Amino acid sequence: MTQIAVVYFSGYGHTKVVAETFAGAIDASLIEIDQNGEITEQDWQTLNTAQGIVFGAPTYMAATPWQFKKFADASSKIWFTRGWQDKVFAGFTNSASLNGDKQVTLIQLQTLASQHGGIWVSLGLLPANTKDAKREDVNNLGGSVGLLVQSPSDASTDEIPTGDLETAKLYAKRVQSIVEKLHG
Ligand SMILES: Cc1cc2nc3c(=O)[nH]c(=O)nc-3n(C[C@H](O)[C@H](O)[C@H](O)COP(=O)(O)O)c2cc1C
Repeated sequence: MTQIAVVYFSGYGHTKVVAETFAGAIDASLIEIDQNGEITEQDWQTLNTAQGIVFGAPTYMAATPWQFKKFADASSKIWFTRGWQDKVFAGFTNSASLNGDKQVTLIQLQTLASQHGGIWVSLGLLPANTKDAKREDVNNLGGSVGLLVQSPSDASTDEIPTGDLETAKLYAKRVQSIVEKLHG
């Protein structure tokens, strides 16, 4: 049984749906960073014992929200002791625009994982980018570093494009299989 933890922030619930979809596909632990940028001591323990850690955050002003950054800064205590060295890492972001500068956020998550000495898992899926491609297709947003999700600005939390959520499930399975190969 793999131990994977998804740690995420969501201001308005859309990224929470993505986190739940990802975690639900592989029975991973879910850790929500609260509106003050905090997680509990037990949450830190869950991360410290996990074989894989998945970062999730919406894109706000072309970056992770400050609450996620507060969590990232707090992880510097673990960085000092190399506590997350060689764990498997992955990440996702969600924003309103098709592009919306999501890549900037994803690179932030990948870099945080690298600071911790982690092994980053890319998305590993071809893009759906032909003339016939539709928003419902897997990886229609054409991600490679990690998972990209678009929640249109007027979409409720149950209106996130199904193709993006399907992509989340496939990425989750890939992360799980890499954890099994490295730690199984
Ligand atoms: C402060 C703020 C800044 C935002 N900046 C961006 C942005 O840079 N690019 C974008 O595409 N969407 C942007 N959005 C839209 C959010 O990314 C989008 O509504 C997302 O679904 C919110 O996720 P959440 O419900 O998990 O908070 C912004 C929203 C807020 C509140």
